[in-house]
Amino acid sequence: MSRFWSDTARHLSPYIPGEQPRVRGLIKLNTNEHPLEPSEKAIRAIKAVSGDSLRRYPDPTSQELCSAIAVTEGLQINQVFVGNGSDEILAHVFQALLSSSSVVNVPDITYSFYPVWAKLYGLECQTLPLSKDFSIDVDSLAALDGPILLANPNAPTGIALDLDSIEKLVFSERDRLVVVDEAYFGFGAQSATRLLDRADNLLVTRSLSKSHALAGLRVGFALGQSSLIDGLVRVKDSFNSYPIDAMAQAGAAAAILDREWLLGASEAVAGNRDWLVTELTQLDFEVCPSQANFLFVRHRSAAGQAIFDGLRSRNILVRRWDKARISEHLRISIGTREQCEALIAALKALLEE
Ligand SMILES: Cc1ncc(COP(=O)(O)O)c(C=O)c1O
Repeated sequence: MSRFWSDTARHLSPYIPGEQPRVRGLIKLNTNEHPLEPSEKAIRAIKAVSGDSLRRYPDPTSQELCSAIAVTEGLQINQVFVGNGSDEILAHVFQALLSSSSVVNVPDITYSFYPVWAKLYGLECQTLPLSKDFSIDVDSLAALDGPILLANPNAPTGIALDLDSIEKLVFSERDRLVVVDEAYFGFGAQSATRLLDRADNLLVTRSLSKSHALAGLRVGFALGQSSLIDGLVRVKDSFNSYPIDAMAQAGAAAAILDREWLLGASEAVAGNRDWLVTELTQLDFEVCPSQANFLFVRHRSAAGQAIFDGLRSRNILVRRWDKARISEHLRISIGTREQCEALIAALKALLEE
């Protein structure tokens, strides 16, 4: 703490991201990174960025990238906003859109960055308790006053709402903004983007970190009617004109257009997820039904912390939170088949001890 800290800096409770240890041979299943290498076309596009384009500032409006997203999603370019990861976009969403209200409604168990942004931008984060099975009671959520922010599929549970439920939330109150964080889109959940042409109170955010195996590139995007997008652009252009560097713009555009890679990679993850669900269930884990690239699990008798520690001592890293209701749970990212097999072998050994 320094005497120069502002009141804002003093009172923040920053988000703590999952560890990124540099440990040789570590099986890293703690931050939901994709197990496969990104699209070769994306890598080539990144490498093709010339020295001359690095000498210059990148395109502040990321036209090529926005256009690739618009074409893929069947939207107009003015319905697309891009940012330095969906985290940056969500921060702009708080400042540009949600702050017109004094509260934001979120599920009690969800992405733990939401309350951090709420505090940063002076909003009260009102939480709706998830049901016992971690599902969202859509009618209770729809009955609340104020904007709604929800991850679909939810994190860390992996449970997704279907399109009818999102539709209910969006159309139950047209003067309320609904922000659907689809960071884990691509692994089976339905997208809310189909509602966009009928709803000026819906914003969808996506990430290239999970579905496209590009967490290191830091690119996300938001989709909505142009009036919402314009609000985000105003905040972005008052904060950082160039949030996406030249390599990220080129790589992300190529990745978005490589539909074949996406289909194959998503299928591989879903296959490993199905295999892991079967194996974990046989080992007496309760497994939440996941439409994401991770599983949220709890052993019926062994303690979450003991399993976490046991895995760590065998060089396997998963994620656990010291939080009410979920302290016995572990969140496990879907790895390669070899990593999944190593995880199961380690769990078998641990549970036998
Ligand atoms: C629900 C959710 N939203 C957003 C993000 C941020 O993703 P990005 O890497 O695009 O900033 C994450 C990252 O883990 C997440 O879990």
